Amino acid sequence: MKGLILSGGKGTRLRPITYTGAKQLVPVANKPVLFYAIEDLVEAGVTDLAIVVGDTRDQIVAAVGDGTRFGARVTYVDQDAPLGLAHAVKVAEPYLGDEPFVMFLGDNFLRDGIVDYVRQFASLRQQGEANCQILLHHVPNPQDFGVAELEDGRVVRLTEKPRQPKSDLIVIGIYMFDHHVFEAVRAIKPSARGELEITDTIQWLIDNRYEVRAEVIAGWWIDTGKMADILEANRLILERLEPANWGTVDGNSQLAGRVVVERGARIRNSVIRGPAIIGEETEVLDSYIGPFTSVYHHCRIERSEIEHSIVLEQSRIVDLPYRIEESLIGRNVEIGRSPTKPRAYRFMLGDYSRVGVVAGHE
Ligand code: TTP
Repeated sequence: MKGLILSGGKGTRLRPITYTGAKQLVPVANKPVLFYAIEDLVEAGVTDLAIVVGDTRDQIVAAVGDGTRFGARVTYVDQDAPLGLAHAVKVAEPYLGDEPFVMFLGDNFLRDGIVDYVRQFASLRQQGEANCQILLHHVPNPQDFGVAELEDGRVVRLTEKPRQPKSDLIVIGIYMFDHHVFEAVRAIKPSARGELEITDTIQWLIDNRYEVRAEVIAGWWIDTGKMADILEANRLILERLEPANWGTVDGNSQLAGRVVVERGARIRNSVIRGPAIIGEETEVLDSYIGPFTSVYHHCRIERSEIEHSIVLEQSRIVDLPYRIEESLIGRNVEIGRSPTKPRAYRFMLGDYSRVGVVAGHE
């Protein structure tokens, strides 16, 4: 079986981060989201992979390379424009050929991997009992997703963002197909938003009497397309962190709970309360890093407090009077005190940036 990871897209919900970076490379517990997908596929024995790429092709290629370090063979498929998940399948047809494949959305995140589902699909397919297998998850807000309707364990209908959902089971971003999916993606038409939709593709398979199976996953699943969901994924992954210290921590500092200090990181006169991870060559001075925080490589946190947050590389947070929390801070960001009078906020923020200031003053 081959693997197809989708790593193109527009990433509008994660602006401004996605103006300059691929959302699939945002680190969760200091590892790009995309790497978890690659690892899940490799763990399931799927090592021939294609990654569909768009505008951020160069960054993705620089991060993943030929896949050797994951134990995979990775090639890249260019999608000229983000015209939908089913469009991505279409452009990958020359690579996929007649082989069945697992499609994995590069920003989706599963707690327990996909080993059992891939094995199950392979055996059902051999018995001629499955052309497609989708994974479902119970959620409290099905109206925001593609909702599946089941009858006697079979999928009979998928509806994209229905006003009155018929179930609380939504389709998550891991799908298994055989080559019949190419008939479907050729047959369907773009939706109202101008995209070739994967739900329409699967509905076409159902309507044309192909076998579409569904499994309800047990553990958590997260689509990291929005900031709150990335922070949630970060929280869940950090909870499983094995403490380690490859950096330097001085005698005036305290590491409590699950804390990882990566190579070359320096902690001085600070408290790090885990679960938290401090990236390579990052410096933390006179600061407090609270639970569920990932600070990436080459950052500097000085006389500041931060928790429940992710900080990307090369950013500097210096001399803040109030604690930062629930924040996603991009690359090369500088947050500090204004040095001059009058006492005022001084911002240089990209389009779609969001800032929350506290009401009171010192
Ligand atoms: P989405 O999150 O559904 O779409 P998006 O990336 O355009 O983001 P937004 O809705 O915030 O604008 O995409 C899911 C995954 O599939 C993601 O990793 C990007 C990828 N993708 C493609 O590779 N090609 C596409 O045409 C689309 C729509 C998405």
